[in-house]
Amino acid sequence: MTTPLKLNVEVLDQAQQQIQADLQTTLAAFSIPEPLKSAVYHAVMLGGKRVRPALSYATSHLIKNNPNYAAVRRAAVAVELIHCYSLVHDDLPCMDDDQLRRGQPTCHVAYGEDSALLAGDILQSMAFEVLGSRLFDTAQTVDASIVLKQMQILATASSKMVCGQVLDLQAESKRVDQAHLEEIHRNKTGALIQAAIMMAAVTIYSGTDEALPRLRQFGQSIGLAFQVQDDILDVTANTEMLGKTAGKDEQVEKSTYPALLGLAQAQDYLQQLHQQAMQTLSFWGDDAAELSAIAQFLLSRKS
Ligand code: IPE
Ligand code: IPE
Ligand code: MG
Ligand code: MG
Ligand code: MG
Repeated sequence: MTTPLKLNVEVLDQAQQQIQADLQTTLAAFSIPEPLKSAVYHAVMLGGKRVRPALSYATSHLIKNNPNYAAVRRAAVAVELIHCYSLVHDDLPCMDDDQLRRGQPTCHVAYGEDSALLAGDILQSMAFEVLGSRLFDTAQTVDASIVLKQMQILATASSKMVCGQVLDLQAESKRVDQAHLEEIHRNKTGALIQAAIMMAAVTIYSGTDEALPRLRQFGQSIGLAFQVQDDILDVTANTEMLGKTAGKDEQVEKSTYPALLGLAQAQDYLQQLHQQAMQTLSFWGDDAAELSAIAQFLLSRKS
């Protein structure tokens, strides 16, 4: 099943509108003192592709009229908040030491390291508070067992992200083998992308449904592919396109796929991962049109 590029953009545009509104509602529900409030808004509201929320919505759209859609909206907000926190901390001087993010000064450049550190901290707890809240609920409330599963999925993925980040820092200026690089990428980036999918999956499928391991597999392939592509774009795209400093990985001798395999082989590997992901989706046929459109977009993205 092939999907035209136009649909890609449409699915993402719709997701962006939804998540932008839901993030706004979420942040407005919290009372945060200045200058932390401004740092949080800076980290969350300015730009971003919003790929993770889009994956949550698209997973829910594998079925029509999900009665637990409020829990999907909360999951989309929660995963984006964790992602934004991870970016703020990733950019800190003690981490990747970056000045540009989403085409803006990084959070610590704009508001200082203290506020950036604390913005990351509060975004993390806000994510779990949102998951456990009744935000976006309609008359029908979501079963507590679903909410608990979502919390477990997000907590596990967030811990993996942190573990991946430490492995990433340790691997600077070192030659690691492909298995180790894969472990880094699966943890620091893949886990959260998979969680975006699985937090929606548990609102539509129950424990023994064979759809769940298939979606886990899809999330794993697309999650790893996402970071392989991020590594490739660092080499092939420019700073203006990326909204972050291009060529930075080579400069600080990060362990990346282009550094390990060369650009052409890294691109081949990306194609392989992408094909794996698409094969997994074939189980749903046309019902997976949205997930498939997002996967297509990810492969062709330029930022
Ligand atoms: C960048 O993520 C950091 C990685 C985990 C690779 P995105 O490429 O999703 O960044 P935004 O949210 O669109 O800015
Ligand atoms: C980021 O990986 C992974 C995170 C957990 C944020 P990178 O360090 O490659 O992300 P960018 O390139 O700065 O967005
Ligand atoms: Mg990093
Ligand atoms: Mg970085
Ligand atoms: Mg990168």
